[in-house]
Amino acid sequence: MKAIEIRNKYLNFFKNHGHTIIPSAPLIPENDPSVLFTTAGMQPLVPYLLGQKHPSGTRLTDFQKCVRTNDIDEVGDNCHLTYFEMLGNWSLGDYFREESIAMSYEFLTKELGIPKEKLSVSCFKGDDDCPRDEISYEAWKKAGIPDERIYFFGKSENWWIAGEEGPCGPDTEMFYDTGKEKCSPECNPSCNCGKYVEIWNNVFMEFYKDKNGYSKLKQKNVDTGLGLERMAMLLQGKETPYETELFSPVMEKLKNIETIDNIQSRRIVAEHLRSSIMIINDGGTPSNVDRGYILRRLIRRMTRHLNKLGIDLNSLPKLIETSIDSIKELYPELENKKENIINVIIEEKDKFIKTLKNGEKEFEKIANKMKTSGKKELDTDIVFNLYETYGFPPEVTEELAKEQELIVDMTDFQKLFKEHQDKSRLGSEQKFKGGLASTGDTEIKYHTATHLLNAALKVVLGDHVHQKGSNITAERMRFDFSHGAKMTDEEKQKVEDLVNKWISQKLDVTIQEMPKEEAIKSGAECMFIEKYPDIVTVYSIGNVSKELCGGPHVQNTGELGHFKIKKEEASSAGVRRIKAILE
Ligand code: ALA
Repeated sequence: MKAIEIRNKYLNFFKNHGHTIIPSAPLIPENDPSVLFTTAGMQPLVPYLLGQKHPSGTRLTDFQKCVRTNDIDEVGDNCHLTYFEMLGNWSLGDYFREESIAMSYEFLTKELGIPKEKLSVSCFKGDDDCPRDEISYEAWKKAGIPDERIYFFGKSENWWIAGEEGPCGPDTEMFYDTGKEKCSPECNPSCNCGKYVEIWNNVFMEFYKDKNGYSKLKQKNVDTGLGLERMAMLLQGKETPYETELFSPVMEKLKNIETIDNIQSRRIVAEHLRSSIMIINDGGTPSNVDRGYILRRLIRRMTRHLNKLGIDLNSLPKLIETSIDSIKELYPELENKKENIINVIIEEKDKFIKTLKNGEKEFEKIANKMKTSGKKELDTDIVFNLYETYGFPPEVTEELAKEQELIVDMTDFQKLFKEHQDKSRLGSEQKFKGGLASTGDTEIKYHTATHLLNAALKVVLGDHVHQKGSNITAERMRFDFSHGAKMTDEEKQKVEDLVNKWISQKLDVTIQEMPKEEAIKSGAECMFIEKYPDIVTVYSIGNVSKELCGGPHVQNTGELGHFKIKKEEASSAGVRRIKAILE
C-alpha cells in the first residue's frame, strides 16, 4: 500500500468515526520562537489539550508534518528520519482508552489488513504517579490480543511527554512483528533488535507535568501518533523506508550516477534532501542559528555525502526534482515551489563548497607552519576550530592531514565533538521546554499587540499591508509585513500613537467561531488561508482589528502597557520588519 493510500484511509476512517479532519500545521511553528520545529501532531494542539475549546470540536484527525532533530547524526542507518509525517487522532475530553483502542485495532486489522497475529501491544505498568493500566489491558484482550502479547512497561517505555513540561500521560503502544527470530529468550517489544517495530502510540493525556510534579488536567484527552513512512515500509514488506516509493526513485538515481558505492551515503543524501525540501517549503532558510542552522547542516551533510559517492554536484537540481516528484502526491504544494526550493539548496551548496575551499586554505597554512616547526601531530583544538568556525568536516581534515603526513587524534576530537553535541542537544530540548504549553503572560500580551500593530499599519500605510510573519519572546515582538518602502519617522510615530490610543481605550478582545468563508467575507485578516480548518476562531479587538487566529490573547487591551517601536528595517524584498516592546 502506498503512503498516500495509508494517509487517505486513516483520515477517512477517523472521519467516519466522528472526527473532523484539520490541516497540518506548518513545520515551523507560527508565533512560537521557543520551538525549533513541529515535532508531533499534538504540538499545535496544546492549548486545546489544556482545555481551550477547539473550533472543530472534540474529535480531530490530521496528518502532521514533523521534524525531529535529535538524531540527525543517526540518519543513514535503516530507520532514523529527520522529516516524517505523523498521522494522528485526538479526543479532547471526548472518548478515552476503550474507544481509542477499539478504533486503533479496527483500523490496523480491517483497514490496513494487518493480521492480528502480527500485533503486540504494551501498557503502562503503574507507579506512584499513576496506577497500572488495567483498562487498556482489558480493552486489548477484548479486541483479540492474547495475554502473551500484551506487555507492561514503566515510564521509560509507556509514558509520553514532549520535552520536560506539559500535558502527558501513560500510553499504549502497538508493535508489528517482522517475523525475525527473537534476539534472546527475553526479547520483547521494548527491544530494538528489529523483531518488533513500533507502529502507533496512543497517549492517554490526563496529566500535566511541571517543576512541582504531576497534576490532573481539566479533561481526559487521547493523543495518538502513527508514523507514515514506517507503516508504508512494513505494509510494503520492506526493511527500510528508503525502499518505499517515497525514497526509492532518488536512491536509484544515486546508484546510477555514483562512482563509489556507499549505501549509508545514499540514504543520507535521500533523507536530507527530502527534509530540506520540506523545511524550505514551509519557509525555512539556511542560517547560522536555530532552525536555519539545522537546514544548513542538512544541506551541508548532504553535499558532503554526494562528494563521498563521487557524484558531480551539477546533478543536484535533477535529484531535487526527483525527490519532489516522489512526494508531491502527498504534498501537491511542492510543485509550485520547486524553483525556489532548488535555488535555496543550490545556493547553500555553493556557499559550502566555498567554505570547504577556505577551510582547505586555512589547513594548508596550519600544515606549513607545522612543517617549519617540525611538529607532527595536529592539535585537536585546531581540528575542532576548523570544524566549528569553517564548518570544515573533520573527516576531511583527517584526510588532508594524512596526505601531509601529519597525525590527528580523532578520539580526542570525537570527545570534544560529543561535548559540543550534548550542549546543542540540550539547547534544543530547552527550546521545547518553553513550548506553547508554557506561553507566559508577557508573550500573550505581545501576541495581542501584534494584532493592534497589524491594524495600525493598515490605517497609516494602507490596505496593502499584510502580516508576513512574527516572532515573540518574553522580551520583545518582531513583526514582518508587506510594504515596499522604509517607513518615515512620522509614519512610525503615527503607528505607535494609534496602538497606544487603542490600548488606553481598554478595548475588549472577543472570540468568535465561524466558517472560514464567512470569516474571510467579513474582512478578517489571515496570513495563510489554506492552513486553517473549515471552522475557524476569529479574534476581534473592539472594532479596530479582526483576525483569524488560534490565540491565546489578553481579554482587554488595557492590560498591555505602553507600546514602543524600537526598530524598523528591511526583512526581504517588499517586506519590512518592526521590532517593538511593551513597557
Ligand atoms: N504525541 C505522541 C507521539 O509523538 C502520540 O508519539
